[in-house]
Parts: sequence; C-alpha cells; structure tokens
Amino acid sequence: TNAIHTTVMGSKVEVIKTTFSTQEDARRRAEQGAAEGTLIIAEEQTGGKGRLGRKWFSPYGKGIWMSLILRPQQPLKFASQLTLLTGVAVCRAIRQVTGLEVGIKWPNDILIQKRKICGILLESAIEDNVMRYCIAGIGISVNVDDNDYPDELKTIATSLKIESGSTVNRTLLIAAVMEEFETLYQIYQQKGFRPIINLWEALSLNLNEEVIVHSHQGIQEGIAVGLDSSGALLVDMGMGEIKPVISGDVKLK
Ligand code: BTN
Repeated sequence: TNAIHTTVMGSKVEVIKTTFSTQEDARRRAEQGAAEGTLIIAEEQTGGKGRLGRKWFSPYGKGIWMSLILRPQQPLKFASQLTLLTGVAVCRAIRQVTGLEVGIKWPNDILIQKRKICGILLESAIEDNVMRYCIAGIGISVNVDDNDYPDELKTIATSLKIESGSTVNRTLLIAAVMEEFETLYQIYQQKGFRPIINLWEALSLNLNEEVIVHSHQGIQEGIAVGLDSSGALLVDMGMGEIKPVISGDVKLK
C-alpha cells in the first residue's frame, strides 16, 4: 500500500538504488510524458548536483535524494516562486516529523544552527517562455553521520540524525514532504503566491538579519526585510534603498 496520502504528488514513485542524479532521471521521465507528481527517489547518487554547479554529497541509504516532476504551465518567471514553495514544504515536513527547529536561508537552503541539512534545486524546460515541466530536486541529509562527511563539509553540513540524536524514518519524511507540497501547491494555484510568502517569512532565517549578497553586481551588505511578489529577497541597503535580489547567494552574517 501507498503510505503517501496525496492525490497527485508522489502518486507514482520510482525507487532506484544507485544513479548518477535523480534530476537526470526525472528529466528523462518528464520527456517521456510522466505525469505531474511523479517522484524519482535514489538510495545513492554518484553525480548529485547542487546549485551554482556544486556537487551534492549523496551517500547510500543515508538521505532522501529525490526529484519531483511538476507541470505548472506558467511562464519561466514563476520558477522562483516554486523554488520558495518547495523550501517551505520541506521545512514544514522536517519540523513536523522531527520537531527540529529548522529554518530557511534564502532562497531555499534548510539549516539548523547555521549548518545545512537540505538543499533544493529547481530546473525547468521551457518552450515559448512557458515551463513545459519543472523538476524539483530535494536533497535531505537524514541519517548521515559525522564521520561520513568529507572534511570540507564537516563544519558546514549536518543531518537530522546528528541534530536529533536518533535515526529518522525516511519513508515517513518523504510522505510528509509530499503532503505538505500538495497542500501548498493547491493554495498557490487557488490563491497565488501571497500565502506562500507569509509561510516562508515565518520560517526565514534571514528576515531582519544582516546579509551579505553575492551577485553579478559584486558583494554588498544589507538587512533582509522580506520577499517580493516574484520571490526576490528584498534587502535594505541603507539610505532607503531596497534592493530585490533575484539570484545569487546570500550569507548569514
Ligand atoms: C543545493 O543546495 O545546492 C541543492 C542540492 C539539491 C540536491 C538534490 S538531491 C536530489 C536531486 N538530484 C540531484 O542531483 N540534486 C538534487
């Protein structure tokens, strides 16, 4: 039986032992016509992909490495809203299942005590400026142990197990993510992005905090004051200048 109590998200699930990247597998399935809500999960990725061309550490059986196929039929500019929605869904699911006080660093890193526990990568295929499909890649370091992490990750990454002191059931967490995602996606389609902004702000680690913004315009500092309707982070640069940061990276100061 299916433990996921949703109608669309995760209604079809494919589990793979070892793969290069579930993003590639999901893309292939989407091209073959897979329905919205199809979920590809791997036990291990040998070429896990992160944002900004980074690698994603995806050891066997220790995490949730999965990609969800969406068919939002919207212009590309809405992709960043979906990115933020995905972050909110995952953050809420982790809180619900583990009770850990995880929060979101813009756009969608999920952290606990400034260490990363989850990353999200949204990739879309466009035709005539409309998204033909969109792949929401979710990587949650669930039961990764301290000594699994390579040295360069030890100080910046953690896991649900490390933080909570016990093994977390991955199946339960996957189901919770699908349920949260489906609920938020419905709200988003019926009421627009505003309710999602409110939920995001409630989980945000950036709000009213100093941030360092790395963008194509160089490195700048300011105070994060909210999200705009497109999903950009609004940063108060001083002297009344509020700057929307559309892409790039922000650091918690
Ligand atoms: C990031 O924070 O840089 C995003 C990381 C996204 C990782 C997930 S794991 C499942 C999916 N497959 C990939 O290759 N990447 C995403």
